[in-house]
Amino acid sequence: MPGQCVIGLQWGDEAKGKLVDLLTEGQDLVVRYQGGANAGHTVVIGDAVYKLHHVPSGIINAGVLNLIAPGVVINPPTILKEIEMLAERGIDVTDRMRISQRAHVVMPWHVLEDQIWNEILQGDENIGTTLRGIGPCYRDKVGRSFAIRMGDLGQPNFADRVRQVTQFKIASLAGVSSDPVELDAEKIIAEYSDYARRLLPLVADTTRILLDAVDDNKKILFEGAQGSLLDVDHGTYPFVTSSNSSGVGISAGSGVPASFLTKIIGVCKSYSTRVGGGPYPTELDNEIGQHIRDMGNEYGTTTGRPRRCGWFDAVAVRYTRRLGGVTSIALTMLDVLSELEQIQVCTAYELDGEQIDHFPANLEDLRRIKPVYETYPGWQQDVAGARKLDDLPVNAIAYAQHLERLAGCPIEFISVGPDREQTILLDSTHSLSNALNAKTA
Ligand code: IMP
Repeated sequence: MPGQCVIGLQWGDEAKGKLVDLLTEGQDLVVRYQGGANAGHTVVIGDAVYKLHHVPSGIINAGVLNLIAPGVVINPPTILKEIEMLAERGIDVTDRMRISQRAHVVMPWHVLEDQIWNEILQGDENIGTTLRGIGPCYRDKVGRSFAIRMGDLGQPNFADRVRQVTQFKIASLAGVSSDPVELDAEKIIAEYSDYARRLLPLVADTTRILLDAVDDNKKILFEGAQGSLLDVDHGTYPFVTSSNSSGVGISAGSGVPASFLTKIIGVCKSYSTRVGGGPYPTELDNEIGQHIRDMGNEYGTTTGRPRRCGWFDAVAVRYTRRLGGVTSIALTMLDVLSELEQIQVCTAYELDGEQIDHFPANLEDLRRIKPVYETYPGWQQDVAGARKLDDLPVNAIAYAQHLERLAGCPIEFISVGPDREQTILLDSTHSLSNALNAKTA
């Protein structure tokens, strides 16, 4: 099983970090291939909690090489802070991590642009970016005129380049900003030269490392950031992030041929959440939504913003499961639903009086659709202590089985809490139907 990937099937925050950490054992490499410091991956091992934005979640395991591939945009101070945090906890990344020289650098003007544009475009519904400069950095990458890549940091013309770009950015932002544009080229040069000194020893040609690993049939785990519905091409555009966060982004972001991937695990919550603006058909803007938020501690890892919460949307997950070529599902946060008497799942949409079973490409259609729900009984029993299927109440197993059927893909993992231990593994013997049969016999 050389090429495995973990991707989110909803709007991000599906608890992918935990799964990556779980699957890391036995891997040779773990690879982040898109997104940037907008991501927030939490790994919990016993009492230790690691909150990571940049560093791949495989970093906790010794013997695994963690790569940050060309498709990622790097924020130097953020990654350095994470490296320091890991060092304080006894994890030295020197031999465990490499950053692509092709990865683009998030510069101070990108963060400023995110802020200024966010203020200008503040309307009834705005994208609600994480304000980490992600969109502006990707915009400059595609624009090609003002981009800076990790490999550029140590080049002799770096200072001149910063002076040139700063001049342009000040001129362009001065036209739209009501405040003076505070970008000081000399300060940026000094600051980034220091970052370069500390990061350049980790910078390498990760594409070559990966292609060699492919030739050597090494085991590689790809760690997706955000969720498929935030994919810039296939998500709920423009309420998306600026990278390919669905399964289609793995090859483009990492440089590894798609044919190398043999297993793609799609992670989804047992309900759904979304941060920021945009249509969200199954949103619960009521006390059930607040209950889920409280039970699931649904506040952003990166921004602390309360997440919007809602029922599981099987139409959306079926779409992203197919888009990503997902081979199995990891169902997370099942424990969060434990107190509910009834649980609803969206199985189809109603659009202009007609029932549809596909995820609309048109944003206006997505705003107009009404979810069609099936209602299932809850289990009203704490499941956080479950370690095997048998430990789960019948209604919880039946609920998972409904989701498996509706998503059209076998569930391989059920997570009932943040810790590594709080994970139930399923296979053909330990299947939902076998467990249900045994319980109801
Ligand atoms: P950006 O990626 O910061 O530009 O934000 C674009 C949209 O994606 C906003 O709605 C964010 O809330 C959302 N977003 C970005 N990263 C994440 C994530 O890791 N989890 C959930 N939502 C995210």
